[in-house]
Amino acid sequence: MTIHPEEMRWRLRVFDSLSFPTRVLRPDGTIVAVNDVFLQVNRDLAENIVGRTCIEANRRHFPNQTFPCMNNRECPLCRAVDSKAGQSVLLHTVDEHGEERWEDRVFSPILDDDGRVGYVIESIRDVTSVKRLEKLYSDMRELIDKVVQSSVSGIIAANRSGDIILANKAAEELFGYTSDEVGEVSIEDFYPAGVAREIMRKLRDERLGGRGKLPITRVDIVNKAGTRIPVEMTAAIIYENGEEVASAGIFNDLREKLAVERKLQEAQAKIGQTEKMASLGRLAAGVAHEINNPLTSILLYGSMMREKLEKDHPLSQNIDYILEDADRCREIVKNLLAYSRQSSASKEVFAFNSLVTDSLRLIHDQRLFMNVEVVKVLTDDELLVRADKNQICQVVINLIMNAVDAMEEKGVLTLATAKDEGTGTAILTVTDTGGGILQENLSKIFDPFFTTKDLGKGTGLGLSMAYGVMEENQGVIYVKETGLDGTSFALELPYVSVSSNEIYESIG
Ligand SMILES: Nc1ncnc2c1ncn2[C@@H]1O[C@H](COP(=O)(O)OP(=O)(O)O)[C@@H](O)[C@H]1O
Ligand SMILES: [Mg+2]
Repeated sequence: MTIHPEEMRWRLRVFDSLSFPTRVLRPDGTIVAVNDVFLQVNRDLAENIVGRTCIEANRRHFPNQTFPCMNNRECPLCRAVDSKAGQSVLLHTVDEHGEERWEDRVFSPILDDDGRVGYVIESIRDVTSVKRLEKLYSDMRELIDKVVQSSVSGIIAANRSGDIILANKAAEELFGYTSDEVGEVSIEDFYPAGVAREIMRKLRDERLGGRGKLPITRVDIVNKAGTRIPVEMTAAIIYENGEEVASAGIFNDLREKLAVERKLQEAQAKIGQTEKMASLGRLAAGVAHEINNPLTSILLYGSMMREKLEKDHPLSQNIDYILEDADRCREIVKNLLAYSRQSSASKEVFAFNSLVTDSLRLIHDQRLFMNVEVVKVLTDDELLVRADKNQICQVVINLIMNAVDAMEEKGVLTLATAKDEGTGTAILTVTDTGGGILQENLSKIFDPFFTTKDLGKGTGLGLSMAYGVMEENQGVIYVKETGLDGTSFALELPYVSVSSNEIYESIG
């Protein structure tokens, strides 16, 4: 086959204008031709290369580098000759100027008329930028992976069918699945029924944080054990070419935060109550003091008058009424002073259990208990407390009277004592089977003059006095439980340990 000189020139031009550096090799490695780009890239002249072997040329251009051609089995030229098929090799090269390159070299055999390999064209593509991007991408991925894994927030991603495709350590802990198990569950299992759908609906709603985004939202999730956990979450839909491909969520466990908030609220409520009590206490103390003196005169002169009057004198009944009501007033004043801690407590050490028996005995009107079954559950622990026993008995009596009132004098009254070693307190509970306290009244029952009883029956001072007394004796009073089945009030006082020296002092 003869080639027209014109066509030969064209072929050479084509070869020279190939944009990839290209060499033409003989099967033995001798370089027959190189194109212009090859010379430019290697900053060399054709006469230094043509006629040499590829091994020599490689050594010239990359003096500090070994090439796979040193080993026949790996040599791509040899492989192309042997297999008569194209071969490629990816080379990481460092040239004499120290410049790093990644090259994709493709060896294409050219067969002669007999089907033997006459030449091999080696074309070289610089893939450095692709490699750099790849490296950047994998570094980036590694970094993102580290950030995701080390995040204290649980991070989860799911594909369109709801399969979990990513869950970091925090998410595994929050949801209670191991990394193996997490692949087996669906995103719907992570929420109470219907919630996953609702979140997706919100995510697609443009009005909430924009399309594909869910602003911080408070929801419950469900862990593997089926427990609901309050969390704060944000979520996003991941789009590819405008199509939804996945969704991701970031979760923060709220349990600790909510517990702290609740404690704070309780503390605030307590402070509020204490403040209210203090200011009401000052008022009550003022009133009580002002009334105490005239009251003493009324009682004194009243009883003197009664003594002077004959038994059947028409006015003696009236004086009895005056004295009865004045007595009632004195009782109120006494309670007010106890509430406002104006009377002084005289503390002694006594057996906590004796409060129950003594208080019951001190109630004069035993007719109240005609239809009330009194149950005493006294602890076997030897419990001693240091307090003003008379005052505390008065508190217990008030609780008993309230309980009897609540049961309308018919039901079961349980008085129980117990020891709480955790808090170091002796606890007395007074439980009735009455109608309970309305939720809206719970915050008011310890206020002075709060009563739900008929005029003349209740003064609304019993519990406020009890509150003041307990506080003064380093104890507390609170509603332990209340409902339609009845109410349980609790009194707590710190117990003193039996070995304590002060007991011997005070018991004598
Ligand atoms: N055991 C109880 N069961 C139901 N309600 C109660 C009980 N103890 C107290 N209360 C409520 O608390 C209010 C205040 O009690 P208290 O201070 O003793 O005043 P009073 O007994 O004079 O009404 C009562 O009026 C009643 O509404
Ligand atoms: Mg009362």
